[in-house]
Amino acid sequence: STPQPPRRGLFIALEGLDRAGKSTQIARLHDQLGGPSRTTLLKFPDRTTPIGKLLHSYLTSPQEQLDDRAVHLLFAANRWEVAARIRREVEQEGRIVLADRYAWSGVAYSRAKGLPLSWLFSPELGLPLPDLTLFLSLDPAVAAQRGGYGEERYEESGMQRRVRKSFGEVARVVSGSGANWRELDAGRGGVEEVWEMVWGAVRGVVDGERRQALNEIDV
Ligand code: TMP
Ligand code: MG
Repeated sequence: STPQPPRRGLFIALEGLDRAGKSTQIARLHDQLGGPSRTTLLKFPDRTTPIGKLLHSYLTSPQEQLDDRAVHLLFAANRWEVAARIRREVEQEGRIVLADRYAWSGVAYSRAKGLPLSWLFSPELGLPLPDLTLFLSLDPAVAAQRGGYGEERYEESGMQRRVRKSFGEVARVVSGSGANWRELDAGRGGVEEVWEMVWGAVRGVVDGERRQALNEIDV
C-alpha cells in the first residue's frame, strides 16, 4: 500500500506592533514545540532573499524613496517566495511552521499610510492561511517605554498609533472571514503571564482537529 503522509503539522502566526514581545514569545514556542527538528521559525520580512535585501535597505534608510504601493507588493512578494515551502513542510512533512509577522502586518502597516484596505489584501490572497494568528495587543505608549524604539522606519509613535488602529480593521476583516484570530493582552503582566496566554491558545490548536490541506487567505 502507498505510504500515508504524517498527520499534517500547523501554521501559526504571531502579530503585533514593534516591541510587543513577538520575538520573545515565538522563540519560547519554538522550544516548547520541539525546537528545530520539528518546528520551523520564519520571520517576515525575510531579509536574506534578494527582495528581503531591498526591504531591509528601505527600512534602514529612511531617506530612501520608494512608492508605498511598490513597497507593499515587495513585502507580499517576500511571503510568496516561501509560500510553497510553508505548504510542503506543514502538509507533507508534518512540521509546525511559526511566523514572526505575516500578511496581517503587511496590510496593517500599509493601511497606516492611508492605502485602501481592499487593494492591500489582494496580493496576499491565496497565501497559506495560518491555523491560528495570535495578535499581541499592546498600547503603543507602553511599547514605546519598553527600551524605546530602534532606528528603523515606522518605529515612531505616530506611525505605531496608526498601525494599532489598522490592526483593529484587519482583525475585523480576518475574523469576519472565519479565520482563527486571537487577540491577547500583551500589556497584562510580564513575559510569563503573556506566555501562559500564548501557550494556552496554541495548545488548543495543537490538540485540535484539522483537514490535511492548509486553507488560503480569502477575505
Ligand atoms: P520587523 O521589525 O519585525 O523585522 O519588521 C520590520 C518592519 O516592517 C516593521 O516595522 C513592520 C514592517 N512590515 C511591513 O510594513 N509590512 C510587512 O509585510 C511586514 C512583514 C512588516
Ligand atoms: Mg522592528
